[in-house]
Amino acid sequence: MPQLRIPGPTPIPEKVLQAQGKQMINHRGPEFKIILESCTARLKQVFQTKNDVLVLTGSGTGGMEASLVNVLSPGDKVLSVSIGVFGDRYARIAGIFGAEVVNCNFEYGQGADPGIVRDAIKANPDIKAVLITHNETSTGVTNDLETLSKIVKDAGLLLLVDAISSMGALPLPVDEWGCDVVVSASQKGWMVAPGLCFVSVSEAAWKTGETARMPRFYWDFAQARAFSEKGQTPWTPGLTEFFALDIALDMMLKEKIENIFARHARIGQMVRDGVKALGLELFADPRYASNTVTSVASTKGLDPKLLIKIMREEMGVVLAGGQQTMDGKIFRIGHLGFVSDDEIKETLDALKKALPKTGFRG
Ligand SMILES: Cc1ncc(COP(=O)(O)O)c(C=O)c1O
Repeated sequence: MPQLRIPGPTPIPEKVLQAQGKQMINHRGPEFKIILESCTARLKQVFQTKNDVLVLTGSGTGGMEASLVNVLSPGDKVLSVSIGVFGDRYARIAGIFGAEVVNCNFEYGQGADPGIVRDAIKANPDIKAVLITHNETSTGVTNDLETLSKIVKDAGLLLLVDAISSMGALPLPVDEWGCDVVVSASQKGWMVAPGLCFVSVSEAAWKTGETARMPRFYWDFAQARAFSEKGQTPWTPGLTEFFALDIALDMMLKEKIENIFARHARIGQMVRDGVKALGLELFADPRYASNTVTSVASTKGLDPKLLIKIMREEMGVVLAGGQQTMDGKIFRIGHLGFVSDDEIKETLDALKKALPKTGFRG
C-alpha cells in the first residue's frame, strides 16, 4: 500500500474502513437518528462549541458555499482575507452569489497580518462579514485566527471560517474565539472518506440568516436544522461516511482532542526539522507554518514534479504538488488525521533516498 501523504483525502484507520462496508439503512429510521444525534454531539465537542453543528452531504467547497448563502444577501459587502488558493476560492464563491467582495490578500506563504486586516475593516465600515481561511492547505500556512477573530469581533462583524484542513487537528475553540460559521470536511483531520462537511452556526449567524437573500436550496441551513431536530437530514445523506464518522469520532475522543493537537504539533515540527536537515527550504513563513501540511520550495535545482514521481513510483509515498500559480514551484507533505511519528520517519527516509535523483544540489 502506498503511503498517502497528501493534505486530504487522508488515510483511513482499519476500524473506520470496516464501518464503511456496512449495509445500507433507512435514512428516515431510528438507526440513523441515533447515528446523527451522536455524531452531532461529538462534533460539537471537537468544535468546542455550543452552537448548532450541521452535517451536510457534500465536499468542503459545498460547506463554504453554504456558509455564505445562508447569512448574506446579494450586494452585502464582505472582506475576504486570503492567503492562498482556498482563500481566493472563498472570495470567488461570495462574488458569484452577488456579494461585494473587498479583497485583503497576502503573499502566498505568509499569514494574514492582523494590523492590515484591522485597517481594511476600518476603511470599509459597511462590511457585514469577514471570510478567513484558518489553515491554507495550498501554502501550508496557519493563520493566527485567535488574534484575527478578536479584530473581527471587536468590529461587530460576522466571522466565517474555512477550517476544512484544521478542525480536528489544530486548536480552534469556536465559542472562545467567537467564530460565527465554521466549515470542515470529512476527508481531512477526521480520518473519514470525502463526502461530508460539518458547519457550526452561531446565534448571530442564525439571526442574520433570517433575512439573508442569497439563493439556496440544497444548502439551506434552516432546513438542515429542522430535519436534524427530528434525527434526519433534508436530503439523502452519505450514509457510508456517517457510519465511518461514527467510529472515527470514537477514536478521536478516546485519544482526546488535546492529545490530537499535541500529536499534530509534534509531527509538524518533525516534518519541518526533517525537511530542513535534508537541505530543503520551507516555503511558508516559519511563524505561520502549518502543523497539518508542510510546503517545500523548489530551490537548489529541485524539480518538485520529478520528486513527486520518484517518490510515488520508487518509494511508494504519495506527495502533493503545488496548486495553480504554485504548480512546479513547491511540493507539499500532508500530515493530518491518522498519522504517526513512525510514518513520518518513513516519509523523511524516502525523501532522503529520492532527492539525489532529482537534480537537487542540497
Ligand atoms: C482549506 C481548504 N479549503 C477548501 C477546500 C476544498 O474542499 P473540497 O475539496 O472538499 O471541496 C480544501 C480542500 O483541499 C481545503 O484544504
